[in-house]
Amino acid sequence: MSKEIISMEKFQKKVYIETLGCQMNKSDSERILGMLSHFGYEKGEEDEADFLIINTCSIRKLSEDKAYSKLGVWGKMKKDRPQIKIAICGCVAQQEKDGLLKQFPYLDLVFGTHNIYELPDLLQELQKENKDGSRKRICAIRDKAVPEKEFNIIRSKGINAWLPIMEGCNNFCTYCIVPYTRGRERSRDIKTILEEARKIIAEGFKEITLLGQNVDSYGKDLPADENGVKPTFANLLAELDKLEGKFRIRFTTSYPTDITDDVIETVQNANKICECFHIPMQSGNDRVLKAMNRRYNRQQYSEIVNKIRNKIKDVTITSDFIAGFPSETEEEFSDTISAIKELGLDYSNTAAYSPRPNTPAGKMVDKFISNDVKKERLARLNDTVKMASKQSNTKAIGKTFEILVEKIHENDYKNGNVRIAEGRSRNNKVVHCKSNTAQVGDFINVKIKEALIWCLKGDEVVTNPCIKDNKNTITAGKATQ
Ligand code: SAH
Ligand code: SF4
Ligand code: F3S
Repeated sequence: MSKEIISMEKFQKKVYIETLGCQMNKSDSERILGMLSHFGYEKGEEDEADFLIINTCSIRKLSEDKAYSKLGVWGKMKKDRPQIKIAICGCVAQQEKDGLLKQFPYLDLVFGTHNIYELPDLLQELQKENKDGSRKRICAIRDKAVPEKEFNIIRSKGINAWLPIMEGCNNFCTYCIVPYTRGRERSRDIKTILEEARKIIAEGFKEITLLGQNVDSYGKDLPADENGVKPTFANLLAELDKLEGKFRIRFTTSYPTDITDDVIETVQNANKICECFHIPMQSGNDRVLKAMNRRYNRQQYSEIVNKIRNKIKDVTITSDFIAGFPSETEEEFSDTISAIKELGLDYSNTAAYSPRPNTPAGKMVDKFISNDVKKERLARLNDTVKMASKQSNTKAIGKTFEILVEKIHENDYKNGNVRIAEGRSRNNKVVHCKSNTAQVGDFINVKIKEALIWCLKGDEVVTNPCIKDNKNTITAGKATQ
């Protein structure tokens, strides 16, 4: 090793980021790592890092508490290694601002969701001292986003890459903190997105997940092009579908009544766009939906689901539900249970309602549901989701799916010491099958023979000659096992 390399290594600093919350936060962390790499930082472990960052989520109190407990651990670490810098960013930082500096004396930097691209400057400032010789402590929170800067992105290794297409939310559902922590909707320019997608594919990723709080709003805030045409989510999907290469496109999250016929048709006709929609319903009861400020009722939600199912074969429709929204009665809650069953939702994320500061529902204190009741409703909700998932998986038996392999389990003793490939079908079902040859990132065909609650099992299928009747299921082919 040359002297020059040794000295560079000596100055190489390590950064550790812990990421809580949604994919948007994961994507932000990848951008932060990319930026810091230009300033001599490389990814390191928690116990060796010079710079520790927690990227936080405030969707529920529980997620916020996780961030605080991590800061406590890092505060103790700082006693032994006082030179380390500790930063907090993400939705809790945006919400709590400089109160965090007061609350956590060992914290060095608080930066908001709109300040990410200022991090290199902030870090430089942090290295200086105050006039009185004390250590600098900085809180940088903007109300509005600054234009993004061009930096490379250090994406987590794997086969899926997150690609934000827009940020923020204009919906102001009464329970939700996101519009306060992420600001109003802002779409990224279509050319920037396409360019980033090309890079992702060139780097070898096999799947791109487009991110936005409400992807169907994409383009509403963008100007029309030279031909007077406004960009829409459907256009963006169609453009991405035209990119060269063998890869998949997913997207999340869809707002029920904003999904256009164009989007449904684009998914139906595209080759790379996977057949799944994540459409949070939140409640199956009309009065509760109104109190949540959701702009649809049960009937309208059901119409959207049916329209998508009628057009797209083997489509998966997933949802989110909240148990125990303020004032929700037992009867109203039972409408949520019946909606999951009636609509045949394939899978749903669930949560007990958690009051969030500054949100309208968080102020309905006299209507709060007791923790015990919320817990009990959540348990029933989870049982229903489990049953729905099993039922949905059962429908896959006998079908052959194209699987993108994500993991290989060597010598899986539970399965008799065999090599198991695990991956996802286009419609986002987790599938396991024996395979001696499949590698991570391969596309293989699997004939499903068993449905469990959360995954499917099947046999690998030789694909010669394999005739695709549509993109999800495959007709001919010979089972290898
Ligand atoms: N943009 C998405 C969801 C973003 S937040 C949408 O439109 O639905 C992810 C999920 O967290 C929400 O769908 C909701 O089910 C849940 N959630 C948000 N605020 C919550 C709160 N205060 N308590 C419990 N769950 C909440
Ligand atoms: Fe929150 Fe509603 Fe916006 Fe989703 S649509 S992020 S639930 S305010
Ligand atoms: Fe959480 Fe913020 Fe995402 S509150 S869910 S990290 S947008």
